[in-house]
Amino acid sequence: MNSLKQWVTNSSEAVNIRLVKAVPGSGDDDDEDDIIEFNPDFTYPIFGEQEQIFGYKDLMINLEFASGSLASCFSMGYKEKKPTADKIYATMKDFLPEDIIDNHDLFTQIAQRDYISFKPMGTKVSEYRINGEGAENSVFEFYQCKFDTPRFLEFHKRMQCFAIFFIEGASIIEDTDEKWEIRLLFERVSENGQETYNFVGYCNMYPYFYYPDQIRMRISQFLIMPPYQKQGHGSRLYRSLYNDFCGRKEIREMTVEDPNEEFSDLRDKNDMKHLDSKGVFSDLQAPVKKDRIEQVAETYKLTKRQVARCFELALLRKLD
Ligand code: ACO
Repeated sequence: MNSLKQWVTNSSEAVNIRLVKAVPGSGDDDDEDDIIEFNPDFTYPIFGEQEQIFGYKDLMINLEFASGSLASCFSMGYKEKKPTADKIYATMKDFLPEDIIDNHDLFTQIAQRDYISFKPMGTKVSEYRINGEGAENSVFEFYQCKFDTPRFLEFHKRMQCFAIFFIEGASIIEDTDEKWEIRLLFERVSENGQETYNFVGYCNMYPYFYYPDQIRMRISQFLIMPPYQKQGHGSRLYRSLYNDFCGRKEIREMTVEDPNEEFSDLRDKNDMKHLDSKGVFSDLQAPVKKDRIEQVAETYKLTKRQVARCFELALLRKLD
């Protein structure tokens, strides 16, 4: 039994995702400063509920991505392999970018080229800066895309694997449906006398019909890449979308598909801040009437359920 165990690897631990900034001329592409490495949170859609790979000792699966263009490279290594070992690439293939390559030298060339030449696609919406060490060279930019935006389809085919790796229950969305709206977040860095871009995160949304002639905009997948989490980017992305929805007459309501706990926290905090700034809780009395919830929901384009939740939080806060 014991000897069998050593041939089993946890798939989320075996997969290493690397974001590579391939500075041309730096020579050594494994320079630690230029690579950020992390594991996926989920690999069960690929390797099954148990997240196990059978038949290898000391297995490592490397998925390298150019940090801006997300051009990618697959490689794997192991100490020993059984003849009956699981087939890794064949199992992962449908979830990886269509244009992933396995030639590392070629990947380095592409990543170096993209480091200089890659620019985000779509319509630039806004930008912001954050405080913090090393942040003075960075500006964060939002871009809005649809599947018919030039160069976006190709980029989406590269980035969609991150939804599988980091959003529980996510699936690959239908990229032939031109109704999807996607907001991308990039970091623009001024360094080495150049402006370069790193992919930070994205949100995709689907406009559903709201009787009789409006839209219920549904946030479907929302992701900030691990190296950028807990720096306020998720809140910035959420607020930028919400502001946009508020300004669009055809949008009646914003909803979220299967929010997890972290996203619900982010949503609550930002909705509370917004409703607070509008004085919604200034004359707070329990119980809050149904009419009041409906009126706030309509005015601020939130769901009744979310407004009721915010009122509950405001009442709890008052007790504190
Ligand atoms: N320093 C330290 N902490 C900070 C800073 C900072 N400068 N700025 C914000 N924070 C804190 C916030 O206060 C918040 O703290 P809290 O959780 O204790 O309240 C926390 O960081 C998160 O806030 P943000 O930084 O705005 O959010 P983040 O950029 O980390 O994004 C998200 C959150 C989207 C959940 C991200 O972690 C993520 O993408 N996770 C993986 C995928 C995922 O779960 N997506 C949502 C699935 S649901 C759906 O898709 C509909």
